[in-house]
Amino acid sequence: MGQGTNKFPIESFQQEQTPFYYYDMDILHKTLQEINRLTQEYPTIVHYAIKANGNEHILKEIALSGLGADLVSGGEIKAALEAGFDPKKMAFSGVGKTDWEIRLGIEHEIGCFNIESVPELEIINQLATEMGKTSNVAIRVNPDIDAHTHRFITTATADNKFGIGIEVLDQVVEHALHLPNIHLRGLHFHLGSQITLMKPYEMLCETANGLIDHFEKKGIEFEIMNMGGGLGIDYANPDEHCIPDFKLFFDTFKQHLKLRPYQQLHFELGRSIVAQCGSLITRVTFVKENRNKQFVILDAGMTDLIRPALYEAHHRIQNITSAEMNQATYDVVGPVCESSDTFAHDCILPLTKRGDIIAIRSAGAYGESMASTYNMRHLPHSVFNKG
Ligand code: LLP
Repeated sequence: MGQGTNKFPIESFQQEQTPFYYYDMDILHKTLQEINRLTQEYPTIVHYAIKANGNEHILKEIALSGLGADLVSGGEIKAALEAGFDPKKMAFSGVGKTDWEIRLGIEHEIGCFNIESVPELEIINQLATEMGKTSNVAIRVNPDIDAHTHRFITTATADNKFGIGIEVLDQVVEHALHLPNIHLRGLHFHLGSQITLMKPYEMLCETANGLIDHFEKKGIEFEIMNMGGGLGIDYANPDEHCIPDFKLFFDTFKQHLKLRPYQQLHFELGRSIVAQCGSLITRVTFVKENRNKQFVILDAGMTDLIRPALYEAHHRIQNITSAEMNQATYDVVGPVCESSDTFAHDCILPLTKRGDIIAIRSAGAYGESMASTYNMRHLPHSVFNKG
């Protein structure tokens, strides 16, 4: 049998139309339990970043566990409400919130708008006034810290579009405090995604400590410190590190952030919660030889999982039905008419043939949620080990 076969219900996979996302809900459940266990002793709210995976079964499971939701669109607000997330534990981020999306958030009295600019702050105040409501707001600060991740998923350096620079923060805070229908609750940060070192988070804590001191001296107390998300996962060893090191992550903040008794600690985690519970399951359509290379051509493509094409991301690839002892080196590609439709170069697999089932691992985050219908392909469906 191929590598990692014991984890997958291969018999039932044989009956399924491929490609599809397979979610192991036991892994998700254990991951959520671990987060809840570790955050019990502190007043902490973890918001699940719905953009990572908005599948309704996944959302329901996460809502049931009591986590909050981090949202970036009106569509996500609606999905979170339907899944049963508590509006008081919703944070709405994004640089370009439109009026209807803001109104939807105000109507449901969500816990916090993470605002990214002064014009946005003013519009939220205006719309809240029109609706006779007050909006809870945190200011997203751009701390100018390089998280040493892929350039497309780093968000907190001075020259990208996110947040408000520290040099103008005093003015923005004063402004927010004077807007009648704004309730300024806190500060928000987010460094980027797939961050595997704790050093950037330590630096973030130092910046946050400086800001807490600075504003306390002016008599301003921020009730919420939202430190964002970004905790990375182990794409190379999904079975060995199936649950990310949340302890190390939370301990970093426990040690380095000088939280006051009146403050609540918030996070927004996406990838680390859902990545390891999901795999993209696909069949080999053809094995093809060119002069120098052998290609395994799958029935899944970049439309189903775009991360390798977009970020040169590596996902572990396993042939879960091959009984071959001998191995060969393949480029594993999809059917889409683009050269970037490649899942891996020079991937060593057991000898692979037409009809074999392949699992592309750690695909629970930013897989299904980024799927498209390019080439008029169908969106992948989803299969669960439970429920
Ligand atoms: N909070 C904010 C404000 C964010 O922008 C993000 C992700 C998160 C939280 C959650 O970050 P996480 O814990 O998932 O790293 N499509 C890319 C990742 C884009 C992340 C966008 N923002 C990928 O596939 O790697």
